[in-house]
Amino acid sequence: MNSILVTGGAGFIGSHTCLSLLKKGYTVYVLDSYINSSPVPLQRISIILEKENVKIDDKLTILKGDLRKESDIKKIFEIALKKNKPIEAVVHFAGLKAVGESNKKAIKYWDFNVLGTISLLKVMEDYDCWNIVFSSSATIYRPKKNSLMDENHELGPSNPYGVTKFVIEKMLNDAFRSNQKWRIINLRYFNPIGAHPSGLIGEDPLGIPNNLFPLIMQVAIGKINEIKIFGKDWPTKDGTGIRDYIHVMDLAEGHLKALEFLINEKPQICNINLGTGIGTSVLELIKTFEKINNVKIPYVFTGRRKGDNAFVVADNSLAQSNLNWIPKMNIEHMCRDGYLWQINNPNGYLK
Ligand code: NAD
Ligand code: UFG
Repeated sequence: MNSILVTGGAGFIGSHTCLSLLKKGYTVYVLDSYINSSPVPLQRISIILEKENVKIDDKLTILKGDLRKESDIKKIFEIALKKNKPIEAVVHFAGLKAVGESNKKAIKYWDFNVLGTISLLKVMEDYDCWNIVFSSSATIYRPKKNSLMDENHELGPSNPYGVTKFVIEKMLNDAFRSNQKWRIINLRYFNPIGAHPSGLIGEDPLGIPNNLFPLIMQVAIGKINEIKIFGKDWPTKDGTGIRDYIHVMDLAEGHLKALEFLINEKPQICNINLGTGIGTSVLELIKTFEKINNVKIPYVFTGRRKGDNAFVVADNSLAQSNLNWIPKMNIEHMCRDGYLWQINNPNGYLK
């Protein structure tokens, strides 16, 4: 499998994955509407590869288009056919991801995430393309006590965003049941953070971020005054929430391993966690960021956030055994690379 369509390839995880795919020699087609991104990260990818002496020639093709429109998806499949490098697999990132917004605008989330995926699967069938890696999320699990979650952990998303990921997984299961040509992997990401070590590409949230790590980065450069820590009485070692933070470059590598697995194994659908298996508390993340980057991150404690959880950490043994994927980066790497990206790009991709 050499030619890959990356939906949402201009986004945070998509851009880092495109970089890894191109570096490995894949031909990459990107379809993105830029609703939550811009063309800049894709330009920066070429700069990074040039610096690393990796020639990509015409291996990167970008089309601005909306996944909810079958005609846009067909356009990119046709471009690939004309280049004589038909799309053999899809890595499907495109979608909306803000939990808070999804609570207020549920139908918008069903439209972008579910309808977008339906259009994609229809066109894939039309073009005889049966391989897909889907960006799912740990948010579909119902966290219980402080134990690692494997792929058989009880499901139960608590917000419309999570529900869309859950129903897309169900839909993909039905797709496989109805036609066993499909090869499908649902990758359930835990908390992707960090940036490419060049500091040229990274996470660029629109407006004020909601998630902890982008907030820490913005406090570090003085854009935001302090972190509000949501609760200090969680049943954890220091009373603050614990998450499984994973470096975005390790996550990108997980997609390459997933594609290799798809091609080498029999047609199937499987769910695989991508996390490090290591839990880090809010306070630990802040302290590590301060130490590694020699900056001060002021914080105050406030009440718990509605619907929040104490402990969300992956059991990643399936990714290790099936995909032969082992994360290489630790929290210090994540804090170092994230900060470099943020100080070099205080306003994200906007100059
Ligand atoms: P992102 O918003 O940075 O990237 C998503 C990309 O999809 C953006 O470039 C956006 O413009 C594009 N897009 C959205 N709707 C589109 C449409 N209809 N047509 C074409 N393009 C469209 O998000 P990300 O952090 O890179 O996340 C990528 C995927 O991973 C998403 O599906 C997200 O739900 C999932 N995920 C993310 C996280 C996380 O914490 N970042 C965790 C778990 C799962
Ligand atoms: N936190 C704070 N203050 C903040 C923001 C977050 O204390 O201002 C805490 C939270 O309480 C939690 C931790 O930092 O303990 C991480 O919170 P995030 O919002 O960064 O991440 P979540 O794990 O809550 O959720 C994220 C994404 C979801 C995704 C999920 C995957 O927002 O979309 O990770 O597990 F599904």
